[in-house]
Amino acid sequence: MRVLVLHGPNLNLLGEREPAVYGRATLEEIDARIGERAHHLGAEVRTFQSNHEGALIDRLHAERRWADGVLFNPAAFTHYAWSLRDAVAAVSLPCVEVHLSDVSKRETWRHTSVLEDVRVALVAGRGLDSYLEALELMLEIAPGPERDAEGTVALLTERLAHPDERDVLARELAQILRRSGRFRWVGLYDVGPDEVEVEGWAGPGPPAHPRFPRTGGLTGSAVATGRPVIVQDVRMDPRHLATLEGTRAEAIFPIVGSSGVVGTVDVESGNAQAFTAERVRWLERCVEALRPFWKAPGR
Ligand code: DQA
Repeated sequence: MRVLVLHGPNLNLLGEREPAVYGRATLEEIDARIGERAHHLGAEVRTFQSNHEGALIDRLHAERRWADGVLFNPAAFTHYAWSLRDAVAAVSLPCVEVHLSDVSKRETWRHTSVLEDVRVALVAGRGLDSYLEALELMLEIAPGPERDAEGTVALLTERLAHPDERDVLARELAQILRRSGRFRWVGLYDVGPDEVEVEGWAGPGPPAHPRFPRTGGLTGSAVATGRPVIVQDVRMDPRHLATLEGTRAEAIFPIVGSSGVVGTVDVESGNAQAFTAERVRWLERCVEALRPFWKAPGR
């Protein structure tokens, strides 16, 4: 998912500007934290600040085909700059309005927002965390480009063609799969003679068990049989070894090499019954494209 973050006037002075109201973090620090969180969520962000209404509009127009959603803190423009409302309506991207301070508890002129009828959500009054919460929300609401299998296979193949550190490559491949299929979490694992170990993952947090015995959990079944294991509601399956809280459906695809199972691809969704037959076919094609990742010497 790609998110454009727009900051309005006077926000360039954050850190020194009325710290009792807006906190001590500078805009640079805020942008860095947004970037960090986006990275963990497998999202890309572009940030932009301006003191000029037209510059914000120009940037929104310029990024309208790149972005899947916009986090917008129009600052004082929020309360009167109707051209910003029209710009958001014009690009028809989901927009989350963000404010550091709780505008609803301040002067009455701050209670009006020009974005009120075009935004999908409002997060205010949480300081720097307002942006981070808004980003998490965006991940759930942005329609995002759910890529077809062919497009995703092309991206995976292209990435595999560029050699890199194994963990970096694994992380980026997991990110491509996660973003293209809009899954909650994706992990690429190596399967050794005794243990299974995560090589790279993409999602809201690291796996609870980065390494576990090869007989453990749903992975243990996929490794033992060499066949995919698909569980539509993990709460109903006693084999499930939780990777991440909040996962409802999980699919594990084994990678079978000449010496047996050498790896697995673990895909998790927050929705029970997420793995429809069509979704599984999509995944099978992508997993096949990932196979070269495990074709290291000796595997
Ligand atoms: C603000 C709130 C606005 O009312 C004010 O004009 C700002 C910052 C906020 O983030 O709290 O400049 O948008």
